[in-house]
Amino acid sequence: MATPHILSGIKPTGKPHIGNYFGMIRPAIDWQDRGKAFYFIADYHALTTVTDPKLLRQYTRDVALDFLACGLDPAKAVLFRQSDVPQVAELAWILSCVTPMPMLENCHAYKDHLAKDKVPSHGLFAYPVLMAADILIYDSNVVPVGRDQKQHVEVTRDLAQKMNALYGPVFVVPEPSILPTVETIPGLDGRKMSKSYNNTLELFPEEKALRKKIMSIPTDSTPLEAPKDPAGSAIVSLYRLFADEAQVRQMEADFRQGGTGYGEFKKRLFEAVWTGFAPMRERRAELAADPGYVESVLKAGAAQAGALAEATMRRVRLATGLGA
Ligand code: TRP
Repeated sequence: MATPHILSGIKPTGKPHIGNYFGMIRPAIDWQDRGKAFYFIADYHALTTVTDPKLLRQYTRDVALDFLACGLDPAKAVLFRQSDVPQVAELAWILSCVTPMPMLENCHAYKDHLAKDKVPSHGLFAYPVLMAADILIYDSNVVPVGRDQKQHVEVTRDLAQKMNALYGPVFVVPEPSILPTVETIPGLDGRKMSKSYNNTLELFPEEKALRKKIMSIPTDSTPLEAPKDPAGSAIVSLYRLFADEAQVRQMEADFRQGGTGYGEFKKRLFEAVWTGFAPMRERRAELAADPGYVESVLKAGAAQAGALAEATMRRVRLATGLGA
């Protein structure tokens, strides 16, 4: 096969947490060495929830900064803003004309909305169609996503096959690549780390805020001198993400031995998290200090992505009978 195209989108809806980092940001960045990677900031998709224009622009810029700080290399991967390539909205319309309503009625974001008695917008309902357009317009072979997005990649495959059957081979049919770690990052309360559980640690917080968050991890009332069970402790699980083998074994031994309080373990966890992210934090501050940098990366990315999208759209317009 020619160099595979890898594509992933990130919705700019707020500050990322370390669950996003280990579950999605880092694995996505690792893919930049395995083919031609396209990463975009899904600002069209974010419009289903973010209605403050200032906030949307700020989130979009912040996500770009976060990815660059975490190691996305613009010389290897194409980083761009979804709305800088508006052809994707054109393709979404065309795809919507072959999308059966029941297929979208079956998608979980829409169903969840209905279950909560909320009135879904058409944008939310049609969200998977725009996502299919994102994937198909860049001839993507591999789409590394979390398990929650698998259904959307299935929809994409269906739509690509349908279009190919109707109009000839216009689209590459992509494979999902489910990122295995997504569901295993523990939150402060031991459940999966998730914004909706309010149990997250932000990726780039202020030092004081991080310390406070970690010191507030709930623990049982075992006295300081008594032995403690490291299994199932959120402190140990989180520590494992940052510390080396020997440090983790030391913490587990100190738990079992007794004589060390939870406060001390939390301090060790804080140090590990704070120093673990120090290089990325410093890099982020450097990049943020250069006001034009992020925008120049996004613009260069949009030029590359836009050329590819336009080539796909020429093929699609020709095949479907649009234009002369
Ligand atoms: N729906 C994805 C999410 O919420 C973001 C996204 C939009 C995406 N378009 C995409 C992911 C295309 C992969 C491919 O996380």
